[in-house]
Amino acid sequence: MTRAPIMQAMMSKASLAACALLLGAVAPAAAAEEGGHGAHIERQAWSFGGFAGQYDKAQLQRGFQIYQDVCSACHGLKRVRFRNLVEPGGPEFPEESVKALAHGWANKITDGPDDQGKMFDREPKLFDPILGPFKNEKEGRAAYGAAPPDLSLIAKARNVEYTGTWWWHPVSMARDIATSYQEGGADYIYALLTGYGEAPADVKLAEGLHYNAAFPGHQIAMSPPIAKDSFVKYQDETGSLEQNAHDVAAFLSWAADPHLNGRKSTGWLVMLYLVVTTALLYAGKRVLWSKIPH
Ligand code: HEC
Repeated sequence: MTRAPIMQAMMSKASLAACALLLGAVAPAAAAEEGGHGAHIERQAWSFGGFAGQYDKAQLQRGFQIYQDVCSACHGLKRVRFRNLVEPGGPEFPEESVKALAHGWANKITDGPDDQGKMFDREPKLFDPILGPFKNEKEGRAAYGAAPPDLSLIAKARNVEYTGTWWWHPVSMARDIATSYQEGGADYIYALLTGYGEAPADVKLAEGLHYNAAFPGHQIAMSPPIAKDSFVKYQDETGSLEQNAHDVAAFLSWAADPHLNGRKSTGWLVMLYLVVTTALLYAGKRVLWSKIPH
């Protein structure tokens, strides 16, 4: 008779202890993250965010200009072909101007072998990839201490790390699912480009590295490509560090996910189709069963 309540009490004590252990294990990890590597990254408003968002063609065109004028000095975009810049859903530059762009691109295509068995360099054509200056990673590393990564997929390869308290994490994840948040890569690139600054007194920078608030570890080999006093001016003579960073981050998001526009509009059509089909099936069922006594 008396044993059951005692057992119950013991069980609940044991489970409490287990909970406390679990909390104890999780809490310091969360605290370490807050003060440690995962930098807090502000979310930006993107035209292509959410369920219905689409790329803004003018922004992609400006973003490409930044890539061409600044980033292409170090970074390639090898999974993007010149002709992709013409296709619908992207920057949609006129074909003639992209042909001229490819023709004059500084980084040539190695082709061959020719009749003498030698490889040779030629000017890129519309179907060729957009290459950076380095033939391989080691060449890049030798030049800058760290290899500048190819930027074709960087917007998908990077994301923002969650930095809040551990107990809010599930809520934050649920909110991201509900709002279809997928712009972490763009948010990170924006934060990276605008995140340069003086290193705090307690940080000792290694030689050749620059302080960056968004980069994991905060020491990056890339010198600030754009800055408050040196940014790309657009055709209408306007521009700023922040706008350059927004535009190039949007452009790199397109490079990593060029079919977003089509995919999202097809999604809405599919939803509409499903709603209409459901209504038709329901109406059909009503008609069929109306003749049968039940
Ligand atoms: C002078 C050369 C140079 C230029 C110009 C340059 N970068 Fe970089 N970039 C680098 C190097 C070197 C790294 C590798 C840094 C490291 O790993 O420490 C890098 C890394 C990156 C990364 C990856 C950071 C990470 O999380 O690993 C991104 C994104 C990036 N650059 C974007 C850009 C964009 C966008 C531009 C143009 C606005 C640009 N870069 C211009 C040299 C350059």
